[in-house]
Formats: sequence, C-alpha cells, structure tokens
Amino acid sequence: MAVERTLSIIKPDATRRNLTGEINARLEKGGLRIVAQKRIRMTRQMAEKFYEVHAERAFYDDLCTFMTSGPVVVQVLEGDNAIARNREVMGATNPANAAAGTIRRDFAESIEANSCHGSDAPETAEREIAFFFSEIEIVG
Ligand code: CMP
Repeated sequence: MAVERTLSIIKPDATRRNLTGEINARLEKGGLRIVAQKRIRMTRQMAEKFYEVHAERAFYDDLCTFMTSGPVVVQVLEGDNAIARNREVMGATNPANAAAGTIRRDFAESIEANSCHGSDAPETAEREIAFFFSEIEIVG
C-alpha cells in the first residue's frame, strides 16, 4: 500500500465545541499520523481561494462565511492510503448519510458545518497541503 499525505481541516463548528482532541483521536485510531498541524483563522480571501472549485455552487458564499467564522485546525495526515482512509474516518459530506462511528455522523451539525474537510484525490492533496504548509518542511 502507498504511503500518502492528505490535507485535513477541523472546521469552526468543531473548534467552537472543543472537539479538536476527540477528532484527532479518531484520526489517529484510524491509522493516520498527524505530521503537521496549526490552528489559524482563515481570511475571506483564503477561504474563497481554497474553495474556488466550488465558486459556481449555490453554497459557496455561505461556505466561505462559515469557514471564516472561527478558528480552524489545518493538518497534514500521513499513512497508507491516507486520502481514502481519512474520507472513511470522516464519513459522507452530509452527516445524514454518514456511516455510524464516523466523525461527521457523530459530530457534524449540518452539511455545511460538517466538522472536517479532507482532500479528495492525490492532486488535490498536493495543492491543498501546499496552500497551508508551503513555508515549512514536514518531517513525518
Ligand atoms: P468539504 O469537504 O469541506 O468540501 C466542500 C464543503 O462545502 C463541504 O465540505 C461542506 O462543508 C460544504 N457544503 C455546503 N453545502 C454543500 C452541499 N450541498 N454539497 C456539498 N458540500 C456542501
């Protein structure tokens, strides 16, 4: 199996409820190593750029407002098949469709305030990791 890296974001709804530790425990129990992590406040410009692939979607404006409504924890996760593994641990985007025992099923408030983000493909992971962590070397 290939060792991969993926970009994870613990979203404002989760940091507001002090769920960072619980979410990190789920990630680690799921076989993912947190090799970089920082708590930041995204600016509007950052949110619009990060989610630019969704710019034409009806939810884009609200999503950018939500992502700047409080601190987020941005992380690089590493492990075998980390991208797919993280998506399994997170569960479906809409918590109503997320499997039992997943982060979103247990913690998400709505399809928008869904507690976490994870890259969806290797090219996206590369772009998203560079977006937040270009300035440091990740030692793993
Ligand atoms: P995320 O994995 O960060 O990718 C895009 C985000 O848009 C998604 O999680 C949700 O937080 C948000 N979102 C809001 N409404 C929708 C929707 N109808 N479909 C998909 N994503 C949505």
